[in-house]
Amino acid sequence: MVVGTQWGDEGKGKFTDLLARDMDMVVRYQGGHNAGHTLVVEGQTFKLQLVPSGVLYPHVTPMIGNGVVIDPRVLLDEVDRLSAAGVDCGRLKISGNAHLILPYHQTLDVVAERHLGRNKLGTTKRGIGPAYADKAARVGLRVQDLLDPKIFREKLGVVLHEKNPLLAKVYNRLPFDIETLANQYLEECRPRLEAHIADTVGLVHDALEGGQNVLFEGAQAMFLDLDHGTYPFVTSSNPVAGGVCVGAGVGPRHIDRVIGVTKAYISRVGSGPFPCELTDEIGDHLVDVGREYGTNTKRRRRCGWLDTVMLRHAVRVNSLSDLAITKLDVLDALDPIKVCVAYEVDGERRDSMPYHQSEIHRAVPIYEELPGWCTDLSGVGDRAALPREAEDYLRFIEEQAGVPASLVGVGPGRDQFISFSPVS
Ligand code: GDP
Ligand code: IMO
Ligand code: MG
Repeated sequence: MVVGTQWGDEGKGKFTDLLARDMDMVVRYQGGHNAGHTLVVEGQTFKLQLVPSGVLYPHVTPMIGNGVVIDPRVLLDEVDRLSAAGVDCGRLKISGNAHLILPYHQTLDVVAERHLGRNKLGTTKRGIGPAYADKAARVGLRVQDLLDPKIFREKLGVVLHEKNPLLAKVYNRLPFDIETLANQYLEECRPRLEAHIADTVGLVHDALEGGQNVLFEGAQAMFLDLDHGTYPFVTSSNPVAGGVCVGAGVGPRHIDRVIGVTKAYISRVGSGPFPCELTDEIGDHLVDVGREYGTNTKRRRRCGWLDTVMLRHAVRVNSLSDLAITKLDVLDALDPIKVCVAYEVDGERRDSMPYHQSEIHRAVPIYEELPGWCTDLSGVGDRAALPREAEDYLRFIEEQAGVPASLVGVGPGRDQFISFSPVS
């Protein structure tokens, strides 16, 4: 599986696409269209939100697992955009157990953020939190409900009975009409989705039992995890490796490799603590050179030096087997390069992640400086051709993390990577 080790946008899509070449199935297990995964293949850019990043290969079955929350209109738009670009989505399978994001979820996300004012989370305003909240409250509608109009209307009636007064009385918003919503989803979305709805858990196990290769694609990342991230500045799902067991219905013994995708620096979009954030010209340089603007929301991402305190924590919680380090090329012009190796909290050195949120807010990074390579890496295709300083930087990350790097990204293109296996 492929998981993010930071606050998202590490380049999971790029490496999922790369690894999918040798896979039979690529499965999303959590999140929704808050994700934005960018693939650049032969000069063509694909921005995926719900469709798994294996979709570009005709031999791969892309699958959306039960743990994902799906806005059917967004999914159908994405399928249309891919089809217009010549990508066939006919093989896409969608779990009948996945929950639906409906328009009231999105409205609630927007008004709740507005209500929080200065304390807002900076969500993607896609309705993710409200949809997962309904799932936990057991009032959510699922993909399979689309197949039974009577049940769909009944459930919508029950949930709107509560949401409409909330929207009207607390947030001064117009209520939603049951019939209008039901007709829209049952008449517009259901006919197009029906053929894709499947027992994805059964299909994953059939594939595994048949000796096929299955890749699980994480969205968001370790530090946006509802349980393990910087709560409350997190998403509402479990992107960590353990999330795959619940979100795709596979036991932990089926996962034989967990690849942690790590940017060579770090970024965050939205609110929340960020010990290594750079608000100076180096931060601006990382934003400009790394093109750090949201794939879908276009928001400017906050950037900083790599934080190995966070990385070590991600290695533990996800039991990472190896790292895929992306965007090494973005550091090409920087010298020296800093890496955070520990925090200072209230005058004390801390080598591991503080569990107390307010300590993370107060943490001051302790940096080590490494020499830059001042060379354009974007055309480097094998490890032996890396400048010594770049090799040393990668080795330093491996040492700090305690796991090896296996892949290194030197540009957005599918071909711009180095296999970081030992030099022969
Ligand atoms: P994801 O959400 O983890 O899939 O990452 P995003 O797609 O949101 O953001 C990563 C961005 O970096 C995308 O624009 C990618 O095309 C780009 N990218 C990925 N790997 C590399 C790399 O090694 N070098 C550079 N320069 N860009 C990369
Ligand atoms: P990918 O898969 C970066 C962030 C939002 C916000 C917080 C909660 O592309 O890495 P939400 O809408 O999920 O309730 O927002 O999580 N966030 C992401 N940041 N990459 C993502 O996905 C993100 N998905 C959510 O900015 O801070
Ligand atoms: Mg992204």
